[in-house]
Amino acid sequence: MITSSVAGQGPGPYQSTYAASKAFVHSFGRALRHELRDTAVTVTSVLPGPTDTTFFARADMEEAWVARGPKADPSDVAHQAFAAMMAGRGQVVTGSWLIKAANLLSAYAPEVLATRMQAALAKPRGRG
Ligand SMILES: NC(=O)c1ccc[n+]([C@@H]2O[C@H](COP(=O)([O-])OP(=O)(O)OC[C@H]3O[C@@H](n4cnc5c(N)ncnc54)[C@H](OP(=O)(O)O)[C@@H]3O)[C@@H](O)[C@H]2O)c1
Repeated sequence: MITSSVAGQGPGPYQSTYAASKAFVHSFGRALRHELRDTAVTVTSVLPGPTDTTFFARADMEEAWVARGPKADPSDVAHQAFAAMMAGRGQVVTGSWLIKAANLLSAYAPEVLATRMQAALAKPRGRG
């Protein structure tokens, strides 16, 4: 199991290095899974949506909209991720149906729109 993020699905203004690193992790996991397809080893890339951990405080993002919006319970996220890994799935988006729906919207929206959505979620409050 490798932990990426829904933030790695596209450009992430105001958390640009983080989003890019999560895109790397996801791509790496997916490639590794392919290389290992003829072995007993599976690779599951986990893409959590916003989750209620110390992440936002540590990232100094407490003022961002994403930090003040709905968040998944970390134990639910862990259960969903573990179940996906045991089922041998290649990837799983964790969190509520709302988080999954928002992720689908972001993943299939034109990039310019998805980037604006990500920017609005991560932008510090009061920043012009
Ligand atoms: N929370 C979210 O909304 C969210 C969403 C998507 C993806 N994720 C991903 O989920 C994973 C877990 O994040 P979290 O939400 O649990 O964040 P967190 O509450 O900030 O916890 C981060 C954990 O990583 C450990 N850590 C940090 N730097 C480390 C290092 N250099 N070596 C070893 N351990 C290190 C910390 O250990 P110490 O406590 O000892 O410092 C802590 O246990 C991360 O990969 C994050 O990107 C989180």
